[in-house]
Amino acid sequence: MSLTETSTERIITPARNILGSLRLPGDKSISHRYALLGGLAHGTTRLTNFSTGADCASSLACVEALGAKVTRSADAIEIEGVAGAFRPTEKPLDCGNSGSTMRMLSGLLAPQQGSFTLIGDASLSRRPMERVRKPLAQMGAHIDLTEGHAPVTIHGAKLNSIDYTTPVPSAQVKSAVLFAGLQTSGTTTVREAVRTRDHSELALRGFGAEVTRTLDSVSIQGLPQLQAIQAAVPGDISSAAFFLCAAALFPGSNLVFDSLGLNPTRATLLDALTALGAHIGVLNLEEKNGELVGTVQVNAPRDGLTGTTVSGALAAQLIDELPVLAAIGPYTKNGIRIRDAKELRVKESDRIALVAENLRAMGAEVIEFDDGLDVPGGQQLHAAEINSGGDHRIAMAFSVAALRATGQTLIRGAESAAISFPEFFGLLEQVIER
Ligand code: S3P
Repeated sequence: MSLTETSTERIITPARNILGSLRLPGDKSISHRYALLGGLAHGTTRLTNFSTGADCASSLACVEALGAKVTRSADAIEIEGVAGAFRPTEKPLDCGNSGSTMRMLSGLLAPQQGSFTLIGDASLSRRPMERVRKPLAQMGAHIDLTEGHAPVTIHGAKLNSIDYTTPVPSAQVKSAVLFAGLQTSGTTTVREAVRTRDHSELALRGFGAEVTRTLDSVSIQGLPQLQAIQAAVPGDISSAAFFLCAAALFPGSNLVFDSLGLNPTRATLLDALTALGAHIGVLNLEEKNGELVGTVQVNAPRDGLTGTTVSGALAAQLIDELPVLAAIGPYTKNGIRIRDAKELRVKESDRIALVAENLRAMGAEVIEFDDGLDVPGGQQLHAAEINSGGDHRIAMAFSVAALRATGQTLIRGAESAAISFPEFFGLLEQVIER
């Protein structure tokens, strides 16, 4: 069979090795927060290495529609903030595919004056929004959803501070409550059983808010005046994950990442790869605007990856990296088992179902659970047509699996990689040795 590429389909040919050095575009989670808080702050925020993904462009476009002045140039994004008061818009705010934009912006807008409507694409319109409406409503916000989903209509109101325990681990929900608490007098506290990514806490401090933490809670003092920042966004470790896993598959591989974000709430993949037997080196650690940044080197073990189980708190911390970890499971000796990851079912797609479907298409045996997957090791995959379901992380995860499969794999919906990582296929070609 001869395959041809189109604007939405990519062909992945097996690799012999992965070698090279990469500097990746800015972290998606951090870029969202800097864009949203920069939009609200006083003064002009200047950001270099801002995420190149469509998701962060959605956050920028929303703050621009809300009155911030955004200047995009080749070297930086500048955001002249609205100094505390967003301007209501006539047209709905389009969050595209981005759950982070919709959920965090809901928290930012709930205490503002005026009404705002947030819409998203078909995937985002299927995702649960009650999880942000509920705590914000407890603060006194007026938010309408349609059967728990977008469109989200916010009628701005003066809010009361709260002490809220998140029922599911979600950094987006935590951030929405903190962003509302930022604009509410008193102390707002969010408690979480598993510490999720803490970029909002760090960014809020950077913009001048008073944030304090205990082991399982974070509190913000209301009504500070946020001041613009200047920052270089660290490279995105969730984008690096695809390359780290690819390199871990080829004995003799060597891949180095400069200026990679290494925030401990995001770097769990490095521990997981180490547990699988990969050699990970970290050098030149520095702190920038509260975020750890460093150089990472990965080498595969000579006799192959072992196997691991990801469950409990680890599943929450590795949530965005689980599709690629599962996709390389067949190539490990003892397999990859994932439990306690039910949240994967409500991401940009049902990631448990799609990972299982695509692994099976490539000839693997896999057991699907409500909250995870069991991917036995010692299985050779063959080429297949991959259904990415329009989900960027599924498209990229199976491009990695295809590198060690027999034959040429067709990735359908490959253009979705641009949601977080438009450079993915180009950079992959750069580091593949055939
Ligand atoms: C994100 C939090 C996670 C993650 C998403 C980005 C963030 O989502 O999956 O890709 O930037 O806060 P949840 O908060 O829904 O777990």
